[in-house]
Amino acid sequence: MSQIQILVGSVTGTAEGVAKVVADALEADGHTTSINTAAQVEDLVRAPEEILLICTANTGSGDLPDNLQPLYHQINREFPAIAGRLYGIINLGDSSYATFGEAGQALDEALEDLGAKRLGEPLVLDASTGEDPEVLAQHWLSEHWLPRLPETPPL
Ligand SMILES: Cc1cc2nc3c(=O)[nH]c(=O)nc-3n(C[C@H](O)[C@H](O)[C@H](O)COP(=O)(O)O)c2cc1C
Repeated sequence: MSQIQILVGSVTGTAEGVAKVVADALEADGHTTSINTAAQVEDLVRAPEEILLICTANTGSGDLPDNLQPLYHQINREFPAIAGRLYGIINLGDSSYATFGEAGQALDEALEDLGAKRLGEPLVLDASTGEDPEVLAQHWLSEHWLPRLPETPPL
């Protein structure tokens, strides 16, 4: 069973709602979760066995929400030692914006540049489809992400 920290970037609460649903589903599967809505770089390094799950909205023109921007800037300035860490991405955007999903992609690339290892493909949620993001996230989790979690925690 894994310990999973969900790092949330949200402006109007959709990503936070998705994070809660995902946390409940992970707990129901026997994992331990925490939800962090004010992530700092220290939160990435304090528990090396933790798996990270980014759950972020996009805002502005492909920007990260204010509550995840500090982490992104700290990553790019401080290069935290998280090589080999497992992570996942839930990227909430809206394809009516030219900058569809760019913030989540930028954070994904920043983690990859540090040597972290993404589990599976990101879940990209498009608000313009009108589909329920919480339902889509639960489906992605059970079909795509949960099967990729290690049998025994890393490290
Ligand atoms: C002012 C504003 C700017 C946005 N900019 C983008 C964007 O650049 N790219 C994108 O993919 N989605 C963009 N979106 C869509 C949001 O990311 C999407 O609706 C998301 O589900 C909102 O999640 P939240 O409620 O957690 O903030 C924007 C939405 C708003 C209201």
